[in-house]
Amino acid sequence: MPSEENLVTVIFSMNLVDHIDRSKLPRHLAVIMDGNGRWAKKQGFFRSFGHENGTEAVHEVVEACAELPIPFLTLYAFSTENWNRPKSEVKTLMKLLVSSLKKEINTLQKNKIRLNAIGNLEALPKKAYQELMDVMEQTKSNPHMTLTLALSYGAREEITKTIKEISVKVKNNLISPSDIDESVINNHLYTRDLPDVDLLIRTSGEQRISNFLLWQIAYAELYFTDTLWPDYRKDHLFEAILDYQNRERRFGKTSEQLNP
Ligand code: IPE
Ligand code: IPE
Ligand code: MG
Repeated sequence: MPSEENLVTVIFSMNLVDHIDRSKLPRHLAVIMDGNGRWAKKQGFFRSFGHENGTEAVHEVVEACAELPIPFLTLYAFSTENWNRPKSEVKTLMKLLVSSLKKEINTLQKNKIRLNAIGNLEALPKKAYQELMDVMEQTKSNPHMTLTLALSYGAREEITKTIKEISVKVKNNLISPSDIDESVINNHLYTRDLPDVDLLIRTSGEQRISNFLLWQIAYAELYFTDTLWPDYRKDHLFEAILDYQNRERRFGKTSEQLNP
């Protein structure tokens, strides 16, 4: 039996990841990757330098999720509102999307990760759209994990599209209004193949949702950190998961009901 002092030493010399309970991992993790611009400006560089350095954080988080494993990871990469940024910044981001897809295809194949995308993808520049479709096709049978990129994504646009599609079905007598329930709505969202989000992380100190997955985060645990996205590493993610594992998800019930 180790002494109390020895035990403390053992615990503190363990890696953060060793403290994670593998039986209580979030099934679906979603991340609002924010703070690239501020990271670059703090160092006197252009915003694009922050976006370039953000790709390393993406690589780390994808690998960490594959290792744990977390079977569904969704990354907010470009919002419908981000189209309103300066043209040159949008161009940089789209170029970076193409180069990252080319670079990371090996990581996806090595870890058996399927690439998926949600959003108004047709709005993407042709080259980005083609590369995306190409990598999705190449990885479509990978069974270990689903990585979803939210691109030209806005939750209000998604919900509007869903209502339109269901309305057309009602008009054509394919479905009756009384049959519309939560699962019908779910099945018309971009995320129809994904489970609800369990944990939502936002970096950079902002505490808002910015039109991300409004329906799907109804019962997600929210985690905000001041770390700017380009600084985000595996241990930051492990910290967030440890915090998540200390929460009691009650889904409307009482604590006593959950722990009789
Ligand atoms: C996140 O970083 C990347 C995208 C939104 C595409 P930002 O570019 O929003 O960085 P800040 O928030 O201005 O620092
Ligand atoms: C949200 O970040 C979108 C992405 C991370 C892709 P923003 O930086 O665009 O969010 P707001 O506009 O500050 O809320
Ligand atoms: Mg931002």
